Amino acid sequence: MTPRNPPLLGGCHPPKTPLAGNIQFMTEREAPSVDGLVIGILGGTGEQGRGLARRFALAGHPVIIGSRSHDRAHAVAREIGQNARGLANRDAAREAGIVIAAVPWEGHGELLSGLAPELAGKIVVDCANPLGFDHRGAYPLPVPEGSAAEQAAALLPNSRVVAAFHHVSAVLLLDPEVETIDLDVLVLGDDRYATDLVQALAARIPGVRGVYAGRLRNCGQIEALTANLVSINRRYKAHAGLRITDI
Ligand SMILES: NC(=O)c1ccc[n+]([C@@H]2O[C@H](COP(=O)([O-])OP(=O)(O)OC[C@H]3O[C@@H](n4cnc5c(N)ncnc54)[C@H](OP(=O)(O)O)[C@@H]3O)[C@@H](O)[C@H]2O)c1
Repeated sequence: MTPRNPPLLGGCHPPKTPLAGNIQFMTEREAPSVDGLVIGILGGTGEQGRGLARRFALAGHPVIIGSRSHDRAHAVAREIGQNARGLANRDAAREAGIVIAAVPWEGHGELLSGLAPELAGKIVVDCANPLGFDHRGAYPLPVPEGSAAEQAAALLPNSRVVAAFHHVSAVLLLDPEVETIDLDVLVLGDDRYATDLVQALAARIPGVRGVYAGRLRNCGQIEALTANLVSINRRYKAHAGLRITDI
């Protein structure tokens, strides 16, 4: 049995000060501390992985870039600089306190199923958007499990899968001119502690707020909504994100 709230590297203590951007925590309950949390990113050499790694490293987190190739992982870690190192995906999964899966839908299931032992007992954050593209633009692909995150949960029965970061633009994450990102990150999952922690993690990116958006069974439409954002971005030449009102 996995303990309900297993310790993560760096520990999870009550915060000394509320984390910026988490209104829900300030009114209802305290956010778990993510101070010092070591963040591993599977597929950390890609656009999304590098973008998230860069922002979390800037926020002071040790980050581990995971890759199928040592060389690529090291090169990206060098590029990010302080707080980053590169490892094979398996070692990144083993050594990190929390793991973000930032790989394309095509390799998602195979990669995660192969890392189930290393990911056991950990929070795994899934941001995959199963999308197809044709001459009319982006469209959601059918997923037998309902969503990429539910596929991850089925493949990783001993991990706590949380879905988040589907709508954040890697271009903005990577742009050194962009200091703050105007965005709510929708966080979904079936474990309250895990979603609280990922909300707190999202808030480490300046301007971003983590908002709980339901259980994993409601993740299909969150992933599919990315196709609409792609259309918005194309029409308006933007990097659109979402804001939830009245919370
Ligand atoms: N780009 C965005 O703005 C964005 C925004 C939100 C969510 N997402 C989601 O984030 C995920 C990653 O997006 P991305 O744009 O960063 O993708 P990407 O650049 O195409 O791929 C990310 C990394 O995944 C690894 N990879 C590629 N194919 C793989 C396979 N078959 N099996 C295992 N690993 C593989 C590669 O790393 P190595 O070759 O080094 O192993 C690659 O650098 C996607 O699921 C996407 O839907 C992307």
